[in-house]
Amino acid sequence: LNLQITQNMTHAISPTLYGYMWEDINHSGDGGLYAELLQNRAFQSVIPNTGAALQGWQSISGAFLTVTAGTTGVSSALPNSLQLSIPKTAKGPIGFANTGYWGINIQAGWKYTGSLYMKAPNYRGSVTVALASASGTVYGSTTLWGISDTYTKYTFTFTPSATAPDYNNLFTVTLDGASAAGETLYFGMFSLFPPTFRGRENGLRMDLAQALFDTGPKLWRFPGGNNLEGQTWEERWKWNETIGPIENRPGRVGDWGYPNTDGLGLMEYLDWIEDLEAVPILGVWAGLSIGNYSDLPDWPVVPADELQPYIDDVINEIHFITDAEDSSELAKLRSQYGHPAPYNLTYIEVGNEDQFAPDSYQAYRWQMFVDGINASFPDLGLQFLATSPPSVALNPPYLKIDFHQYATPGWFYNASYMFDTYPRNGTQWFMGEYAVTGTEVGCELGSPSCGRLLYPTLEGACAEAAFMTGMERNSDVVFASAYAPSLENINSYQWTPNIITFDAGRTAKSVSYYNQQLFATNLGTHVLSTNPTPSPSTAPLYWVASHHATNHLVFLKVVNTGSYDLVINLSFDFPVVGGFGTAQQLSAGLYPTPGVYNISNTLEEPDVIMPVASSFGIVDATALNYTFPQSSITVMTFAVD
Ligand code: AHR
Repeated sequence: LNLQITQNMTHAISPTLYGYMWEDINHSGDGGLYAELLQNRAFQSVIPNTGAALQGWQSISGAFLTVTAGTTGVSSALPNSLQLSIPKTAKGPIGFANTGYWGINIQAGWKYTGSLYMKAPNYRGSVTVALASASGTVYGSTTLWGISDTYTKYTFTFTPSATAPDYNNLFTVTLDGASAAGETLYFGMFSLFPPTFRGRENGLRMDLAQALFDTGPKLWRFPGGNNLEGQTWEERWKWNETIGPIENRPGRVGDWGYPNTDGLGLMEYLDWIEDLEAVPILGVWAGLSIGNYSDLPDWPVVPADELQPYIDDVINEIHFITDAEDSSELAKLRSQYGHPAPYNLTYIEVGNEDQFAPDSYQAYRWQMFVDGINASFPDLGLQFLATSPPSVALNPPYLKIDFHQYATPGWFYNASYMFDTYPRNGTQWFMGEYAVTGTEVGCELGSPSCGRLLYPTLEGACAEAAFMTGMERNSDVVFASAYAPSLENINSYQWTPNIITFDAGRTAKSVSYYNQQLFATNLGTHVLSTNPTPSPSTAPLYWVASHHATNHLVFLKVVNTGSYDLVINLSFDFPVVGGFGTAQQLSAGLYPTPGVYNISNTLEEPDVIMPVASSFGIVDATALNYTFPQSSITVMTFAVD
């Protein structure tokens, strides 16, 4: 193939083109990005006196444990307590432990900051809290005194001097059995944090936050996804129950099969988005929940005459986020919770996947939310994203639409041209969730036995990259995109594949992760036209060229989805400064089995496919031949005047 890169700029590239879609799924939040180490820390959204209510907790030396609502809780938001009953025959250390989110990462020199509430009707002795291995090695401990019959908060820190050899560690709470025999104690709202990303209180797990940060995302859509919607209307994500002291957050029944603490709440998300220097896309609940309503004829949406309170709720949320400092009660509350200045907010996404109830969305839900919110914020310049099928005409007409696709590699590389013919009519596309999830058409969301991926593969990442060249080439109409889902705790997940897989201490960055990173961190300000432009006749090669006006760089992204190496005779109608270029490449490279393209980075083997850097000369500063290996993604960079 002869390929010329021209200096003709076709259009500016949307600065929000690459980012993330976020929801708590696969313990991506609780037990993942949210750095809290203790699982089920406040017994939120559990049924008292059941075994399930003790998820994450275990007895030490025969102490009897149960979760009860039969004593006054730590707060009205947290009515459940852990009841510890010491047998009358007890001797020696006795109590209970938290197993963390399938382990606890203990590192020498890290300062662990903990707290708990406790009370006891009669017991007035001491209680010892510790970080220890399951086999009994203690890495830090402290003794708490002063227990009374009303809940008191105790705080403590540990700074281990040794690193535990594995994550099979516990947070233990013990007392002397002989002194406490026959006694009952109550506990609530435990917390234990390691150092967090940028040292934020109630913050994020450092390695996971850093990994996401390192891909340079420029948008963050939250809080879902399905997890916005709730199984019932009442169980929807409620912004006002995710702010302020963690003692005031009741948590909720999440949509992915486990309780959410909501410790990672609205302000934690917005602070994180500021750290990323990204923009939020705020998903707001639009009257549709996703529980199993199989006994009903249609999805039960909130009727028009009952919708206004939910719109008012969103209006309050936007006031809380955007009101000028101290200009309203909600702005004062935001100040009190640590962020006096308003947060940036432009994009509001009305619902999630409302293709499941397009009739009511078209008839009244979209309009009531958009008009109602706009009327309250005429000067905010809010932009609204629709989530109905693009074919559904809305009033007011949508200007931005969120579309999701989980599909096979073939779907993605064939769709790399779909935006070439997208109407330039003022509407813009958000590819709000996408990933290669399977290899078989019809089984994309099925089981591994029919091709569902457990981890992103090189083949899948190449197909996503081919598709991304199409989005970038048409980034006048594609304003944003997000691979989804993002994180997966390998010990408890509901969806595969995901861009990063982790456990209590390890992370595996997938080949799709490196692909996203290469695309997002090597992005021009304008698209350059090429001769020829990619078309089905140039497959299996896909490409896009861009120019960064302030950095004076040209980027060329080339994807070869084929099973054979291909040579391109590249030329430039401008001189390349220095007569050389650099490349970063993802490919099977030195993988021992040539031609294997379904390989992945896994927790056991996280570094199978990593970007490899190289540099090369350019003849007369304007031409070169370059071989693009089978199943490869290459980003070339050239300096220009
Ligand atoms: O990303 C997983 C789920 O896929 C999202 O929650 C939902 O929006 C989509 O159906």
